[in-house]
Amino acid sequence: MSKKLTIDPETETPEEEKLFTSLRANAWNEFIGQLKTKESLNIAISAAKSRGDAMEHTLLYGPPGLGKTTLAHLIAAEMGSAIRVTSGPAIERAGDLASILTNLEPKDILFIDEIHRLSKVVEETLYPAMEDFALDIVIGKGPSARTVRLDLPQITIIGATTKIGLISAPLRDRFGVTHRLSFYEPLDLARIIEIAAKKLNLKIDREAILEIGKRARGTPRIALKLLKRIRDYSQVHGQGIVTKLLLTQALDLMEVDPLGLDDSDRRLLLAIIHKFGGGPVGLETISATLSEDIGTIEEVIEPYLMQIGFLKRTPRGRVVTPQAYLHLGLKAPVEIK
Ligand SMILES: Nc1ncnc2c1ncn2[C@@H]1O[C@H](COP(=O)(O)OP(=O)(O)OP(=O)(O)O)[C@@H](O)[C@H]1O
Ligand SMILES: [Mg+2]
Repeated sequence: MSKKLTIDPETETPEEEKLFTSLRANAWNEFIGQLKTKESLNIAISAAKSRGDAMEHTLLYGPPGLGKTTLAHLIAAEMGSAIRVTSGPAIERAGDLASILTNLEPKDILFIDEIHRLSKVVEETLYPAMEDFALDIVIGKGPSARTVRLDLPQITIIGATTKIGLISAPLRDRFGVTHRLSFYEPLDLARIIEIAAKKLNLKIDREAILEIGKRARGTPRIALKLLKRIRDYSQVHGQGIVTKLLLTQALDLMEVDPLGLDDSDRRLLLAIIHKFGGGPVGLETISATLSEDIGTIEEVIEPYLMQIGFLKRTPRGRVVTPQAYLHLGLKAPVEIK
């Protein structure tokens, strides 16, 4: 299968990034699903607005492509606040964070993506900023060094992460609101695709929309990626409208199966089945066998396979379930360990 056609849920080509930014849900009513999260964020926003305060610090976590960045922008829009975007690895030194923070206006939002990758010193600089809207700056060196406290405006930190387990307890405790985004139902994805197709002026049958919803691995970003590939395909092979038949042909070509599993998913399952008798097998061993980065396996490939019950995490390692064997057209071992 050619590299070009794989649906990598994590990274976007620059062209896709531009397209997705133009397709980004830019109003609450375009943000589909995640009803509980939406509702409680709306309550927090209204409460903050009625008190005239900044929004509470908010931590959003969940697998890639489920809408964390989009939500951060929507919160800012709803609060009428400016949003400054940065990421854990981009803030190298405490001084970098200090200069970002001191340049913010009251009620501004600082969005820190990949917040689990903040260094320890930077993280510690963030604590008083979140708790007391203050910065503790050390002046001088050695025995004469002293700490000066600088007041900051009342601001909001929105953190996003795919790895909540890597966030330290003190940092986690400083967020007033924490939300986990979960995988989307096919019908919610269908609604997202419908809205995006309209924005793209793409004619697409209802049946085709529903089918993309089923094959998007519960992930809006993948749904939009599939839609974009299908649009390209239909420009060459279609007759002005995407039908279910055309869609199925395009998805076959991309090797996206009826459950939305792609080449990386199948490679992972088949490696465990053929090389390790279905498991249990450790993550490091899988990673070495597939020459695939551990982070990608853990954050991008596995969560959906676990969600649909194809893969189990046990204390002794990963195990492929009988459902996965069945889906792959293989006979499951009599006893699955
Ligand atoms: N609930 C939703 N309704 C409509 N569109 C959505 C929704 N969630 C995500 N999207 C769309 O899916 C794409 C990916 O979303 P986003 O970039 O916000 O995900 P993310 O969680 O920040 O991913 P990552 O962890 O990779 O940063 C965006 O184009 C966004 O507009
Ligand atoms: Mg994001």
